[in-house]
Amino acid sequence: MKRGSFNSKLGFILAASGSAVGLGNIWKFPFEVSNGGGAAFLIMYLFFCFILCFPVIVSEIAIGRKTKKNAIGAFNSLGHRNWNFIGKMGVLCGVLILSFYTVVAGWVLGYVVEMVNGNFDISNNFGSYVNNIQNVFLYSILFMFFTALIVSRGVEKGIERAAKILMPSLIIIILMLIIYALTLPNSIDGIIFYLVPDFSQINLTVAGNALGQAFFSLSLGMGMLITYGSYVDSKNNIINSAALITLTDVGIAFLSGLIIFPFIFSSGIETEGGPGLIFQVFPKIFENLGDTTGVLVGSTFFILLSFAAITSTVSLLEVPVSYLVDEYKINRKYSVWIVAFIILLIGIPSALSQGKYEFFSQFITYFGSEKPIDFMTFIIDVSNDTLLPFGGFMITMYVTYIWRKKNLSEEISRGNPDYKGSAVEKYINFSISYVCPLILGSIFLITFLNKFFGI
Ligand code: TRP
Repeated sequence: MKRGSFNSKLGFILAASGSAVGLGNIWKFPFEVSNGGGAAFLIMYLFFCFILCFPVIVSEIAIGRKTKKNAIGAFNSLGHRNWNFIGKMGVLCGVLILSFYTVVAGWVLGYVVEMVNGNFDISNNFGSYVNNIQNVFLYSILFMFFTALIVSRGVEKGIERAAKILMPSLIIIILMLIIYALTLPNSIDGIIFYLVPDFSQINLTVAGNALGQAFFSLSLGMGMLITYGSYVDSKNNIINSAALITLTDVGIAFLSGLIIFPFIFSSGIETEGGPGLIFQVFPKIFENLGDTTGVLVGSTFFILLSFAAITSTVSLLEVPVSYLVDEYKINRKYSVWIVAFIILLIGIPSALSQGKYEFFSQFITYFGSEKPIDFMTFIIDVSNDTLLPFGGFMITMYVTYIWRKKNLSEEISRGNPDYKGSAVEKYINFSISYVCPLILGSIFLITFLNKFFGI
């Protein structure tokens, strides 16, 4: 069986940035920023992306390209079967993330329809909207269906082609919305909140959240980039690709803040933030724009979100599919539909956890905390805030002590002959063996103990 591959450098960069840019940038980022005190959070997030995550991105791509294998098989192929638990954790984490991601993406898709119909009142009924379970299931299944359709067509004809169409459209829509947002009255207050830091807001919880957000947003720590990297040929310059992917992801998160905060501040609506932020606040803002403009801007915004989400769900689905295809020689189409179906089932409790059933809505209470949290938040805590940073940490350990930096350099040099001996090489090597394990490891450990055990 012939393994798939990306047809061009640009194709790989668009697909990988498409994976990175998603609900994480436009749905999650703004409420994390507002919970974390605005610009203070932003600064930490930028620091983590560029200093801590960059070497991990480079390592993941290098491991994938070297072995031409999926997230688990890659470790076997380098002769370190004992370390393939990093990949196993990654596949599990991807399945968990995709299970709740599909539910949120389903809400988004449903909102496109509501906006087209001018149903702005939905913002007051978000609670009942997410508990209209038939509706939520319908749109989540539809979203998964489109995702599976793209993945089933393969790397070049499916993943790459979709990214080439969706990513440029996404950027155009974002630019249009920013120009519009900046012309709104009082938009400057939003900009100030967003860009002027209040350093007193910085603490370990905020740092832990910023770290989780950096990993989530870059699709890092679970072998997605090992998988996509395995479809890239050795002419590709890994450092440049990694830099472009990081810049695109951080750039779009930053730009979406420039849309969202002016919108919120100019509308004067009080919000407590949280996952409902864009769903509860935005329709009100669109309503104030008047009927025609509101319908237009509102549907454009939620179409933007759907585009961003689908290039991400595609990458999440590709990780387990690639594993089944490589290791068990199961036909791609068959693997895709089976995995998609299983993930939909795993997502059911998340869909029911927003008030529908008490059992899932008040699923678990961590030690040292009084309030129970819902199933979806629990899955987010486990996958996003725990497994991803831990996976990233293990990859830095693996590269430093098992695979060895010399082999990393060797792989990066292919397609980048000047790499050896360069300042970039020194920086990556230093960071991956000292800075990353130390900072990543300690923030991870502290927030993990704090979150689950109240220590
Ligand atoms: N990065 C995506 C976002 O910001 C989500 C995502 C896609 C992801 N693939 C991933 C997160 C792999 C972690 C791992 O919405």
